[in-house]
Amino acid sequence: MIRLLYFSQATQPASSEAVEDILQSSRANNLALDITGVLVHGGGLFMQTLEGPEENVLPLYVKIMRDQRHENCRIVHISHAEKRLFQKWSMGIVEGDPLTENHVMRLYAQRMEAVPGKAYTDTMREFLRKLNAPR
Ligand SMILES: Cc1cc2nc3c(=O)[nH]c(=O)nc-3n(C[C@H](O)[C@H](O)[C@H](O)COP(=O)(O)O)c2cc1C
Repeated sequence: MIRLLYFSQATQPASSEAVEDILQSSRANNLALDITGVLVHGGGLFMQTLEGPEENVLPLYVKIMRDQRHENCRIVHISHAEKRLFQKWSMGIVEGDPLTENHVMRLYAQRMEAVPGKAYTDTMREFLRKLNAPR
């Protein structure tokens, strides 16, 4: 199993319907592909973690990369994974806040660090906390 994190820029301000549309196809497709993860959206950026079998995650990433709703996809983290972080979510959503861009910059700055980089684990923990928080 692998875990892949990328970020990208929305090509136009993504409305909540646009995000809902992405989530709907993600949930159906990812379930069938045994892929779980989280999509973070805000400040004109997307950041997504995909985890699952390598043979499914990589082709899905390629498909997502070609989606015209965003551009400049960049992988910030990719590693072998023993256990899922987001096992409950075929695709969880965290609507971004002003922190999103800071997260990205921090992760991006440290992307060459040995895995698991502290910035990466801290950020993932924060997303998990948000996903687990009662709404
Ligand atoms: C930021 C972003 C994240 C996406 N994440 C996923 C995903 O996790 N799974 C997925 O199937 N599609 C995802 N998509 C949508 C795909 O690019 C594509 O539109 C969709 O998979 C097509 O679904 P279909 O083959 O069922 O029509 C994402 C799109 C964007 C812009």
